[in-house]
Amino acid sequence: MSLQSSLTQAITQRAEFLANAELNNTDCFRIFHGTVEGENGLNIDRYGNAWLIQTFHQTLTEDQLEEVTSVLTKLNDLPVIYNDRAKRNSRIENNLHSEHHEFACSEQVIQENGIKFTSKLRHEGQDPLLFLDMRIGREFVIAHSQDKTVLNLFSYTCGIGTAAAMGGASRVVNVDFSSFALAAGKKNAELNDVAEVCEFIQSDAFPALRQLAGLKVGGRRGQKLPKYPKLAATQFDLVFLDPPRFAKSPFGTVDLINDYQGLFKPAMLATKDGGTIVCCNNVAKVEREAWLNSLVRCVEKQGRKVSSLEWIHCHEDFPSFDNNHPLKMVALTLA
Ligand SMILES: C[S@@+](CC[C@H](N)C(=O)[O-])C[C@H]1O[C@@H](n2cnc3c(N)ncnc32)[C@H](O)[C@@H]1O
Repeated sequence: MSLQSSLTQAITQRAEFLANAELNNTDCFRIFHGTVEGENGLNIDRYGNAWLIQTFHQTLTEDQLEEVTSVLTKLNDLPVIYNDRAKRNSRIENNLHSEHHEFACSEQVIQENGIKFTSKLRHEGQDPLLFLDMRIGREFVIAHSQDKTVLNLFSYTCGIGTAAAMGGASRVVNVDFSSFALAAGKKNAELNDVAEVCEFIQSDAFPALRQLAGLKVGGRRGQKLPKYPKLAATQFDLVFLDPPRFAKSPFGTVDLINDYQGLFKPAMLATKDGGTIVCCNNVAKVEREAWLNSLVRCVEKQGRKVSSLEWIHCHEDFPSFDNNHPLKMVALTLA
């Protein structure tokens, strides 16, 4: 099937989704999802007043870009920004025409379920400041935050934290080591007038989490530890754990394949009895049930129980093969 036909088909399949998005004040979503819809490494999203094309494996030819642009602008006549990330480290390599460059580098305010988020399609980082597949996570948090205290670990731009505050949380603590991501998070809280319940802790997640859990802070063997903000042991009603696939820091290694427990155990200890911990794992090769079993075992080893659990599935703008989405999210309520 040609690229044009695959894209047209993806749009047709989203007719109901698109109508609902408009009704729900959502102007950011995925319109074409890579391999699952017929083109490996090609994602196309709407981010507010723009279309964003991203390639991760193969650069689009001029003709392909024209084809895609003509289908997108027929649906909505918006600027089309192309970020080619097919080369080293997913870095954006291509130049844009000057009028598009200025637009892509300027701050936009986008909306999801009526919540405002800041977005930039080109900036010092790589991603446009809001991960769209996490919409369902934000919706879960909105529905479960009324009068709750919420800990948002690996918060990035605090999409989850902002959603929690909008859902009526009494206190939201966002933790990330990126000052750039937290600055966008503060902006998000301000855009929605919820800054007074939100805290932004710039810290490596390991020491922050271990202190909150009442555990000793350690480091990787033989390394001198850098300074970190001091926090008192605290348990939360709702904990959201969404780490990257792999990251090394002097305090430890985030490794979602070999050591999810290294993060899950302290995160669980920072969750109140009767509270809920939402765990995310976006590594495709990690098998859903085996991962869940390892979480439950870890809870039971601490003499606690999972009293109920709920899988959280991505929306239909992120289709998957055999309904087996690489992003796994499960909410565990602890007794
Ligand atoms: C997958 S993103 C999290 C996405 C986020 N949950 C959301 O809803 O948008 C991973 C984040 O982890 C942060 N990060 C990676 N390693 C870290 C560490 N050791 N301590 C604190 N933050 C870390 C990165 O800065 C990045 O913002």
